[in-house]
Amino acid sequence: MTQNRPSPETDSPPASYYQRHIFFCLNERPNGAEACANHRAQEAFDRCKSQVKAAGLSGPGQVRVNKAGCLDRCAAGPVAVVYPEAVWYSYVDAQDIDEIVESHLKNEQVVERLLTPPHLGR
Ligand code: FES
Repeated sequence: MTQNRPSPETDSPPASYYQRHIFFCLNERPNGAEACANHRAQEAFDRCKSQVKAAGLSGPGQVRVNKAGCLDRCAAGPVAVVYPEAVWYSYVDAQDIDEIVESHLKNEQVVERLLTPPHLGR
């Protein structure tokens, strides 16, 4: 056994450092061309981050809220995607974000009404 390796019983990192990630497309395009940023994506990202923190869900072993560039599903924007489940959401307002946090990120229940239609891509 190598001396510098962590002991599997005591120092092993969890199988997945975060249980779940939610990525928000914050893409903006030159000259105000259509993109998620035109639909208050930054505001939604900020809301999600604060709600996750307020719910005590942030940190290792829990949830990480991440910024992303274009996720290539612009036609369904603004979008966010939750991994590892690969569940895509198209949201509109702060209530939608709160529901994603409470239902999916906290209670592991997909918010069916906000699912991105599967055929919508770029
Ligand atoms: S601009 Fe948001 S998915 Fe492309």
